[in-house]
Amino acid sequence: MTASRAVLAGCGVSVPPLSVDNAAFARVMDTTDEWIRERSGIARRRFVEPGVGSSVLGIEAARAALADAGMEAGEIDYVVCATMTPDHYFPGVATLVQQGLGMAPLPALDIRQQCAGFAYGLQVVDALVRSGVARHVLLVGTDVHSSLMPLSARSWEVLLGHDAGPLDAAEREWNSRFRHLVVLFGDAAGAMVFRAEEESGRGILGAALYGDGGHKEILYVPGAGSARRPFVSPEQIAAAETVPVMHGRHVFKLAVTRMPEATRDLLARHGYGLDDLDLLVMHQANLRINEAAQKALGLPDAKVHHNIHDYGNTTSATLPLCFHEARAAGKAPAGSLVAFTALGAGLHWGAVLLRV
Ligand code: UT7
Repeated sequence: MTASRAVLAGCGVSVPPLSVDNAAFARVMDTTDEWIRERSGIARRRFVEPGVGSSVLGIEAARAALADAGMEAGEIDYVVCATMTPDHYFPGVATLVQQGLGMAPLPALDIRQQCAGFAYGLQVVDALVRSGVARHVLLVGTDVHSSLMPLSARSWEVLLGHDAGPLDAAEREWNSRFRHLVVLFGDAAGAMVFRAEEESGRGILGAALYGDGGHKEILYVPGAGSARRPFVSPEQIAAAETVPVMHGRHVFKLAVTRMPEATRDLLARHGYGLDDLDLLVMHQANLRINEAAQKALGLPDAKVHHNIHDYGNTTSATLPLCFHEARAAGKAPAGSLVAFTALGAGLHWGAVLLRV
């Protein structure tokens, strides 16, 4: 008997309508459009309205992916959702997506590998389909970073230009403590639908994924977790322990070496070289990281796609959002060989290979 493969049937995205440019941040913290563009490549990012959780974007992206696949929600037999910003402490978003799509009860799994979440999700889909556990799988990556940002309601009003400001010096100073972090992230969701098909060379071919807790402290949230009792407190909030700690330079150095390494190794494992690759979809955390990775791999511009300037880092949503745009630009036609690569908190990183 020939084993089935998880073949991509459809892809869809959801980005909130509100687009915020770099200049808006300069109203509430010590930063400039120039600094943000030069150091990260970001020009703008999207934010949801207050109260819109990750599940809402995830449901919209899933609907778009199902429409692209020409499938109904009722045909899906397994849901996998990657997010680091679930609507609630628990449950995760997978059952909220299932309910929002009007699906009958079915296995609904949350995974949380942060920026590498969608890459890990692709490996889960591959395993579910190859093992025969599922035949039609919905994979969603969704994150609402605006909810994690340590800005007061007044700061948001000034940032969005609804209040002319200025903020008092203490509030501006507090916001500026997080300027290396807040300017980088945005809200979005992306989804893919996979269908089991007999071996034809198409589908998810394989993955090379890694996790190493030895690097936990370069990117993590110290508070608001079970290592604390109570898990969150006014003291933790005042000490900014509910805000991510990020040692940007350290993360940068690991990303520029490990993403190309994983991509090259995975291709070799499948008997391919870089010349065989049609498109590399990289996590969009910093344009400089991706330019360095592209250079390390010697890939021409036509074989990569960047959209960080419009969306910033959208964590679990980044890979499907970038793929979606690249495919619309004609960079991933049927039969093309696409590699996805990402690195993020955990540390989690790696690459996945897909024959479209
Ligand atoms: O998906 C995984 C998530 N994260 C990442 O992948 C992050 C990877 N790292 C990066 O993207 C970069 O390291 C950053 C964009 C975060 C920072 O860029 P950098 O070139 O590494 O800057 P830096 O952290 O070394 O800071 C340089 C200066 C500092 O000032 P001093 O100490 O030289 O006076 C920072 O305080 O830039 C300052 N700075 C800012 N200035 C204006 C940091 N953030 C800002 C800002 N605006 N937003």
